[in-house]
Amino acid sequence: MSPAEVSSRIVELRATVAHHDELYYRRATPEISDFDYDRLKAELAGLEKLFPEVARAVGPDTPTARVGDDRAEGFARVKHRQAMTTLDNTYDEAELREFHARLVKALGVEDLAYTVEPKIDGVAVSLTFEQGRLTRAVTRGDGEEGDDVIANVRTLAGLPHRLAGASVPDVIEIRGEIFLREEEFRRINQVQEEAGEAPYANPRNLAAGTLKQLDARLVASRRLEIVLYGMGICEPPVADSQTAYHAQLKAWGLPGVEQIRTVRGADAVWAAIQELDTLRRGFAYGTDGAVVKLDSFEQQRHPKIGFRGMAADGQAEAARKLSPRWACAYKFAPDRAETRVRAITIQVGRTGALTPVAELEPVLLAGTTVKRATLHNADEIARKDVRVGDAVLVEKAGEIIPAVVSVLVEKRPADSLPYAFPRECPVCRSVAVRGEGGVVWRCPNPHCPEKVRRRIEHFASKGGVDIEGLGEEVVALLLEKGLIKTIADIFRVKIEALLPLKKSGEVWASNLIAGIAARRGADLWRVINGLGIPQVGAAAAKDLARTFRSLDALAAAPEADLVRIDGFGEKTAAAVRVWFADAANGELVRDLQAAGVAPTPPVATASTLAGKVFVLTGTLPTLSREEATAKIEAAGGKISGSVSKKTHYVLAGEEAGSKLEKARSLGVPVIDEAEFVRMIAAG
Ligand code: IVH
Repeated sequence: MSPAEVSSRIVELRATVAHHDELYYRRATPEISDFDYDRLKAELAGLEKLFPEVARAVGPDTPTARVGDDRAEGFARVKHRQAMTTLDNTYDEAELREFHARLVKALGVEDLAYTVEPKIDGVAVSLTFEQGRLTRAVTRGDGEEGDDVIANVRTLAGLPHRLAGASVPDVIEIRGEIFLREEEFRRINQVQEEAGEAPYANPRNLAAGTLKQLDARLVASRRLEIVLYGMGICEPPVADSQTAYHAQLKAWGLPGVEQIRTVRGADAVWAAIQELDTLRRGFAYGTDGAVVKLDSFEQQRHPKIGFRGMAADGQAEAARKLSPRWACAYKFAPDRAETRVRAITIQVGRTGALTPVAELEPVLLAGTTVKRATLHNADEIARKDVRVGDAVLVEKAGEIIPAVVSVLVEKRPADSLPYAFPRECPVCRSVAVRGEGGVVWRCPNPHCPEKVRRRIEHFASKGGVDIEGLGEEVVALLLEKGLIKTIADIFRVKIEALLPLKKSGEVWASNLIAGIAARRGADLWRVINGLGIPQVGAAAAKDLARTFRSLDALAAAPEADLVRIDGFGEKTAAAVRVWFADAANGELVRDLQAAGVAPTPPVATASTLAGKVFVLTGTLPTLSREEATAKIEAAGGKISGSVSKKTHYVLAGEEAGSKLEKARSLGVPVIDEAEFVRMIAAG
């Protein structure tokens, strides 16, 4: 490469990486995969290192000398007490071994001890605890100053607002990642698609987008979680190693990282990483690699280690510290394969959403044969310009369905044409519609045979009423023979009508009839889930079943009662109301009952607290926070971190603070421990 070529490549890469930083950190809507991003950034860093004069001549402003800035409008900006740095990623075992060799050289110790931790694919935040109380939650921002997202972080169910135990520092910044579980990600995306909005690409983006919502109630309706692993300032110090610090986090009652290994030397580090790769699919959070850290804090602070972004003599080379040299992030490469698009088909969902699917030449990927990959929606196809006949790369990241990552344009057949997204439902030919600003095209016809089929399939499926023997094929057969038109018809099917459908079908027919009969009394939440109410998945269906205990009570529930359910936003409450207000749906519910469906309400736990939402504040005279929580949950109640109009009781002790005031201002009943104990005993 000539200096002129290097220079123009650096200019181009800086602009590209900066563009993707903006999309990833600030807007939570990346256009390329992490793997492709890491490759671009590594190429840029490599050129800047190899040709420092050229890089300097281009200018000092480069994304490799800053951390991806996540600051957004509407949040107070707060300075970190200690800079919040990050790490560069490597996919290369050799680089990992070089990291170890550098530290050995700098410290003069051979068998250095490290921790090997899962690298959580979430959103970084720094929590400040003063005198043991949670006072701030700040995003990384530009590393020096971030957004204060404390209102949102207080809604996280698994995060205590107070450190347990005696050894509590005056002030500590505890760092970690906010994440969403895979199943919660799927639930929210379903809601999102049903509302005609673009689905999020992965749990990390959704967590990032959620954390930056200005409405804490919306945040509370999505079950964000947190896991903690890092430290900023800590006065006075509490631990002398990473291993001891992890133990301290647990002792404080904070959610820590799973499966941390403390090992010595590069071979043991590599073995621990390999082991982590086999364990990580079982974790609550998504992981994209491992972080290797020098275990001893004294060694971390050794003057020869330092930070990238600072010259060895301690003079700032760039304006600020970027990443510590005592840690290294190793990423697992995503599973990818090349194949060809045979066709693009359109799938019609239960709600009418038209989802394009790439029909692929079968290819082996992460141990399974992939024949189809989602193309998400019309905009996505246009953006990637995916065409029939194209050679494409497909990727399977973790357990997420395979997706087409990119087109290999150089292998495109000369006669290929851009894909034209159909403007009608491929099944019933109704003209497709799409909501304003929405990306999802839909079939608006409520009687579209494909929607009907999907609705019945959903009702009978494992997550729904779970009717044994009534899978996709049998649903299709019964529809084709005209034996069912709605979910209620399932319960009216007669054995005589089934017998002619299959040769020697007696056993099959009687099993199916028995399977259907057995589910007339299915759990109420299964029936509710099976109805396919927009925004209502299994978790919400369980909340509804627990709260209303019958279909009739649910159908008659005013919106105000629905909004009070913990975890329900106004959107979900409204969706339930709207669904039952539709005369056809009311008719369907009555028809189900007429066909003999009598769902079983959940077993009442100690009934006084069932569905009741408690907020704890202050110190109780005898019960610890954990004990009070256990009692409430055992009696069927729930704990929430913040007071809202959905709170039923605030259980307050000594030194109760702002929650008590909030409860009073909202008129939420405040009880003390004695009253609480009476309540439990009475239940
Ligand atoms: S330690 C000084 N440990 O991954 C920064 N980071 O790629 C040290 N991350 O910026 C970070 N899991 O946001 C650390 N167990 C873990 C982590 C972790 C996820 C994130 C973090 C970091 C990025 C680096």
